[in-house]
Amino acid sequence: MNAIALSTEHISKHFDHFVAVDHVSFSVRRGEIYGLLGPNGAGKTTTIRMLLGLLTPTSGKGAVLGFDIVKQAEAIRQRVGYVSQKFSLYPDLTVAENFNFYGGVYGVSRAALAERRADIFRTIGLSGQDQERVSALAGGSRQRLALACALAHEPELLFLDEPTAGVDPISRRGLWDLLYALAARGASVLVTTHYMDEAENCHRLAFIYRGRLVAEGTPQEMKTQQMVAQVVEIDCEPLDAALTVLRAARWFDEVALYGALIHAIGQNVAEKISPARALLQSKGVAVKSAQVILPSLEDVFIARLRSVDVDDPISE
Ligand SMILES: Nc1ncnc2c1ncn2[C@@H]1O[C@H](COP(=O)(O)OP(=O)(O)OP(=O)(O)O)[C@@H](O)[C@H]1O
Ligand SMILES: [Mg+2]
Repeated sequence: MNAIALSTEHISKHFDHFVAVDHVSFSVRRGEIYGLLGPNGAGKTTTIRMLLGLLTPTSGKGAVLGFDIVKQAEAIRQRVGYVSQKFSLYPDLTVAENFNFYGGVYGVSRAALAERRADIFRTIGLSGQDQERVSALAGGSRQRLALACALAHEPELLFLDEPTAGVDPISRRGLWDLLYALAARGASVLVTTHYMDEAENCHRLAFIYRGRLVAEGTPQEMKTQQMVAQVVEIDCEPLDAALTVLRAARWFDEVALYGALIHAIGQNVAEKISPARALLQSKGVAVKSAQVILPSLEDVFIARLRSVDVDDPISE
């Protein structure tokens, strides 16, 4: 069996003169959970839609489960599951009826659906809810049902476009447990997200920004190899004054809020800690601690995006 579930080579999509996806090349292995991480408008959904044959690439090529994304889109759609960003369930139908409907669209027999429904609902945490109307379900349960519907035909590859947007943390955890279980059985998952903590869960991920793939690797590789700068974490208050002072000093490439802490990113940061402390204190900021830390995925992301903007400013 081919060890690669999908691959693209320099795939691009232009909408008139706007380049939504720009020469993106990557591949997802069988049994792998691969994340596309990027801000709004980065090109994540457009990339997925090309892989599903819903949009024709302007240039480049790709294969999904061995099928060409342009010439064999129908074969791809039969074999993959897709939960779109704005997935639609039928609110007036019950949970079971929605599942049966989607399974039927994929040509799964009634008997097979009944069997799979019990199994999938148990795994996904929907047992006992078969007869509930979708309109009465909470967001997390709807998301689970959307995923259950996408699994009804036992796809080898799942495309999930921001599957946990608006879902509470416990349901998010549950969804990830399920994705791991699927991957352990050999299924592959391509998942998009804005959430850094979620990106940490992926086996490998790519940063997508302004249509381009700007970094790729395991979460660990991203933090240890992709980071050319270092990070100082500063616990101080008031935060807004500290941000203003540190940015005005221009000692760091980037000064950003990280929860209730400040992350100052730059070169040779260790030697800047003492002067930064002294400067902050002279401006009335109380500094509790300041130390060099291992960068978070978010630090790496911010640093990579910044380097793209510096190399290629948006002209307007
Ligand atoms: N059919 C279209 N016509 C014109 N522009 C489009 C079309 N589809 C997408 N775009 C533009 O392409 C860019 C990428 O969009 P895309 O939906 O792929 O981003 P995304 O990474 O999925 O963003 P989000 O996180 O908000 O879902 C955006 O600037 C969007 O406005
Ligand atoms: Mg999108």
